[in-house]
Amino acid sequence: MFTTLARPQVWDVPIDLEAAIAALKRELNAVILAHYYQESGIQDIADYIGDSLGLSRQAASTEAEVIVFAGVHFMAETAKILNPTKQVLLPDLEAGCSLADSCPPAAFAAFKAAHRDHLVISYINCTAEIKALSDIICTSANAVDIVRQIPADQPIIFAPDQNLGRYVIAQTGREMVLWQGSCIVHETFSERKLIELKVQHPHAEIIAHPECEAAILSHADFVGSTTALLKYAQASAAPALIVATESGILHQMQKQVPQKTYIPAPPTGPCACNECPYMRLNTLEKLYWAMKHRQPEITLPEATRRAALKPIQRMLAMSR
Ligand code: 13P
Ligand code: SF4
Repeated sequence: MFTTLARPQVWDVPIDLEAAIAALKRELNAVILAHYYQESGIQDIADYIGDSLGLSRQAASTEAEVIVFAGVHFMAETAKILNPTKQVLLPDLEAGCSLADSCPPAAFAAFKAAHRDHLVISYINCTAEIKALSDIICTSANAVDIVRQIPADQPIIFAPDQNLGRYVIAQTGREMVLWQGSCIVHETFSERKLIELKVQHPHAEIIAHPECEAAILSHADFVGSTTALLKYAQASAAPALIVATESGILHQMQKQVPQKTYIPAPPTGPCACNECPYMRLNTLEKLYWAMKHRQPEITLPEATRRAALKPIQRMLAMSR
C-alpha cells in the first residue's frame, strides 16, 4: 500500500531504547503522540496518549518541530494536514486502517455525485482524498454532537463507517445516507460469547466503542470513544468492565484504575482479532528507527492537503 523503509534489525537498536528515544526527542525537538491502541511500551514513552479527537487537537497545537505519530496512517496524515511545515513521522508506513481502505476516493466521488444536495460528514478514519471530498470531519467522540448541529432539513451522507453511522442515527433520530465501510477489529466481537461472559460476570458492566455492530452496542451500559471509555472506567462503580474495543486501551485502564477487573470482549474466532493488525505494526524499535533516520515521513500533494484541511478545521471549530 505504501512505500516502506528497511526494517530495523536487532543489531541496529540500542539496548536502552527508552533512553535513546528520549535523547532523539530532545535532539529533534520532537513530540511523540500515541493512540490508545498502541502496544504498552509505546504508550509508556509517549508525550500524549489519546483518542483521534485528542490527538488531532494536540497535533493542531504542538510547537514541536517533528511529530512522531504512533498510530495509523490517517492519523499521521491528519497531523501533516494541520502542520504542513513540520515533519511528521510514522514508525511503519504500512500501518493503514480497514475503514480508510473501505472507501476508495473514485467510488466515493461517484457516490457523492449521486447525492448532490447532501452534506458530507466523514469519520476521521479516512484518507486525505476522502477528507478533501468532505464538508465536515468527525471522530467517534464528537460525531453525535456534530450531526445535531446540522439543520434538520439538510440531507447528510455519513462515511465511511456504517456502524458509527447507524449509532449516530439511533442517537439523533436523523436519517443519513451511509457509506458501507467498517472496521475489521470492531466487527470481530461475538454477541453470543458476550452474553455468555455477562452471565459469568453479572456485576460487570459492558462498555463499547461505537464502531462495534448494533447487536454488540445493544448490550452496552456505555458507548463512547476510547477516551470516553477510559473516563467511564474512572467514574463507574462497577467492580469489573467487559470492554468491546481494541485491547490496547486495557493498558491505560489498568494503569489508571488498577482496582477494577477488565475483561476484553471475546472475538468470534479463536484469534487475537481484537488487536488492530495495523496499529500493532508500530513497535518501539521502529519508532526509534524512524526518529534516528527521520523517515518514514508523511507527505501530501498541497492541493489535497488544503482541501482536506477545511473540513478538519470545521470539526475543530464545532467541537466542544
Ligand atoms: P477513537 O480514537 O475516536 O476512539 O477511535 C478509535 C479508532 O478506531 C481509531 O482508529
Ligand atoms: Fe482502523 Fe479499526 Fe484499526 Fe481503528 S481499530 S485503526 S478503525 S482498522
